[in-house]
Amino acid sequence: MRYTEADQRRLYHLSKTLLQREVPTDKEAAAQMAAQLREVINYHEYRYYVLDDPVVSDYEYDMLYKKLEAIETQWPELVTPDSPTQRVSSDLSHDFPTVRHLAPLRSLANSYNAADLLEWERMVRRLTGVPDEQPIEYVVEPKFDGSSIALVYEHDLLVRAATRGNGVEGEDITPNAKAIRAIPLQAPFSSVGIAVAELRGEVLIRKDVFKKLNEERIAQGLEPFANARNAAAGGLRMKDPRETASRHLDAFVYTLNYAVDAQGNDMHHPIGTHDKAMQLVGRMGFKVPTEGHKVCKDIHEAIAFCEAWEQQRDNFPYEIDGMVVKVNDYELRARCGSTEHHPRWAMAYKFKARQATTKLLAVEFQVGRTGAVTPVAKLEPVHLAGVTISSASLHNEDFIRSRDIRIGDTVLVERAGDVIPYVVKPLLELRTGQERPIEFPRHCPVCHTPLFRPPGEAIWRCINNQCPAQVLQRIIYHVSKDGMDIEGLGKANVERFYQLGWLRSLADVYRLDYDKITQLDGFGPKSAENLRQAIERAKHNPLHKLIASLSIPLVGKKVAKLLAQRVYCIFDLQQWTTADFEQIDGIGPAVAQSVRAFFDNESNLRMLRQMEALGVNMCQTEEDKPHKRTAHSPLAGKTILFTGSLEHMTRKEAQEKAEAAGAVVLSGVSKKLDILVVGNNPGSKLRKAQQLGSVQILSEKEFLELLEQEG
Ligand code: IVH
Repeated sequence: MRYTEADQRRLYHLSKTLLQREVPTDKEAAAQMAAQLREVINYHEYRYYVLDDPVVSDYEYDMLYKKLEAIETQWPELVTPDSPTQRVSSDLSHDFPTVRHLAPLRSLANSYNAADLLEWERMVRRLTGVPDEQPIEYVVEPKFDGSSIALVYEHDLLVRAATRGNGVEGEDITPNAKAIRAIPLQAPFSSVGIAVAELRGEVLIRKDVFKKLNEERIAQGLEPFANARNAAAGGLRMKDPRETASRHLDAFVYTLNYAVDAQGNDMHHPIGTHDKAMQLVGRMGFKVPTEGHKVCKDIHEAIAFCEAWEQQRDNFPYEIDGMVVKVNDYELRARCGSTEHHPRWAMAYKFKARQATTKLLAVEFQVGRTGAVTPVAKLEPVHLAGVTISSASLHNEDFIRSRDIRIGDTVLVERAGDVIPYVVKPLLELRTGQERPIEFPRHCPVCHTPLFRPPGEAIWRCINNQCPAQVLQRIIYHVSKDGMDIEGLGKANVERFYQLGWLRSLADVYRLDYDKITQLDGFGPKSAENLRQAIERAKHNPLHKLIASLSIPLVGKKVAKLLAQRVYCIFDLQQWTTADFEQIDGIGPAVAQSVRAFFDNESNLRMLRQMEALGVNMCQTEEDKPHKRTAHSPLAGKTILFTGSLEHMTRKEAQEKAEAAGAVVLSGVSKKLDILVVGNNPGSKLRKAQQLGSVQILSEKEFLELLEQEG
């Protein structure tokens, strides 16, 4: 390690301080700040590139870099030859022969919001002379988070593949590139008059393939890869191409970096636009961005497309860390030109960082609805992917022990998609010696029953079914959207009624005293009446909803539906043996045991009988029956799929509605598909469905109209 622990602590805290500070207006202060920025940036580059173990988010690094750039732009005399801004980052090692690219492989400038992109467009207009009233066309593509590659084709044959290296020279990894199926070994460039071409692209691994790859590694006793990018970058640099092949890498092409005819004339201008070039190479057999790709008529459309994808980045099959906005027309691009570092005709729109570092202040132990006791980290508030977070999951005891996480540690936290943020690891080098180990309780923190850890499980459980914490969580779940879906009875109200002693079991939900509720602060006759009606409605819910709302361990919506399809009323399940449950396709021994245990418990049966007496439906309804819809229902028996983002409902809600109307939701486009519902920014699924020709394509509005016909 190049830095002492004391240095590291100082540089970490200095980074955080610098992030808060504005660029000074007087030169002396700016010079001092520039020196500090250089020192911390060098440290972060070392952590990222050499140790592959960054301690700040990419976003924070970028912000530090931008501050340094801002100072150096304002006072060019402050630039030092060893400033991090004076080099283009390099991934060169000495394991492979070095080769020179045919044209420089520049990087991208970064933007983070709509204002940045609008400012960039103003610069593009200045450089190109295009007046404000004339829109400029842009292509927006995903910014793949993989490993950059350059492919050279001469007379239609792949002759060389290289890593990006320092942008001028890269490593020759041709044999490995040939092991990647998505890279054509030959392509008909000569058919369009191109004699020599250099294509740029990205090598990556599809998320689901990566997950399997890591599972296999764990099964073989190997260390799993930290992320898909590392697995792809490492895969490109294997000594043995068979090893590369075993990682199932993929490759997308996104730039025609160099193209000349037999006389050496540049072929970009005859082709005309980036989009046409990509269509051309797409037809030649290369994988080009389709999903997350759009030709936009102006910058506003480009911005909207970037923002829409930021919302649904988790739906993308590959890791992406942003979008790239590119001027489409090659003639305009030539007028923009490039800096040493990046072309001025392209701009990356970086998604908000999903990782950040902060301090672990305390650990709380929460008891869930099935008794699982989970550690929750209480954090110094930190801004992460657009929200401020102050708590995060610590998974379980094994996780805490294996990473030696302690109270007082600076920890790396991550938030992926809409899931709960979680602690990734502590930054050991920032320890001061004041950190305290986390004591895992051996008794339930609420009811004090000794905790039990079932063999083979990582989770400690409170086995007292009547534990007040479990009961409360079960009531919250019972009335939630995933349970009986009682509008107006959210978590806060359940907690309030619980505190007042009105809710002590699920059955109590159905004997609330509305006169008392009317008297409560924040309630009145109208809202109490609305609540009464919502609860009355819930009493008529189909059986599968009731089963799913009971918090039987391992029983979610799917299992609940399978059970509801097969009984006349819920009490029938009392007679079933575990073998009977296992007869059902989709139910294994663990689920069977769990359901059996639920019905073996007298207090559960008593609760169900009370609910029945209060009018809650316990019997199979029309909606529970398999294939209940008849031919006159337009969605009955049809297969359906959703693509793009929907305006009036989430994807999950739409799927539920379709299922409720008797349709079967598929996961991909195939000949089996009857209906594709298309939201905003549809991806390759739409194209595929159009190609098939047999698929009925509906807008969200048309889908809703069909549902309405359903009644
Ligand atoms: S265009 C000269 N398009 O992002 C044009 N780059 O952070 C520069 N990247 O080095 C490349 N997806 O490795 C372009 N759709 C995309 C990209 C993309 C990922 C990478 C590329 C570049 C890095 C810059």
